Amino acid sequence: MRRVITYGTFDTLHFGHIRLLRRARALGDYLVVALSTDEFNALKGKTSKFSWEERKRDLEAIRYVDLVIPENTWEQKREDVVAHDIDIFTMGDDWVGKFDFLSDLCKVMYMPRTPEISSTMIRNKMQDLSTAAE
Ligand code: CTP
Repeated sequence: MRRVITYGTFDTLHFGHIRLLRRARALGDYLVVALSTDEFNALKGKTSKFSWEERKRDLEAIRYVDLVIPENTWEQKREDVVAHDIDIFTMGDDWVGKFDFLSDLCKVMYMPRTPEISSTMIRNKMQDLSTAAE
């Protein structure tokens, strides 16, 4: 069984995320998603629209996702790869080169991002709509 891992915030789940998850799962037989906690997002200067529990619930409803674990720190990746017996680490290509240091433990692959969609874009549009309604 080939085991794959990916990381992210997955806020306002969108088709770019679904496509990433589908391709990640297709690289193997089991997909672990390490989902950034609200505390870790705060550390990164990021605020999500949905809480960790809500984002986890949505990810668990996706057939490509086998397991959701918390991402609490930048440093946990080596530990996760070993603990979950990971063969392939994958991320969108906005991260290209950033995680090559894991390649002594597993294969590292970057996949093309889906253009013209992001959580930031959706959050901004939601904000515009609520401002317009005031
Ligand atoms: N991703 C993707 N295509 C997109 C958006 C995201 O392939 N259009 C991928 C990212 O490359 C990453 C994963 O989905 O591997 C989770 O990304 P995340 O940062 O949670 O999503 P974004 O929509 O980029 O969020 P934000 O705008 O808050 O940065």
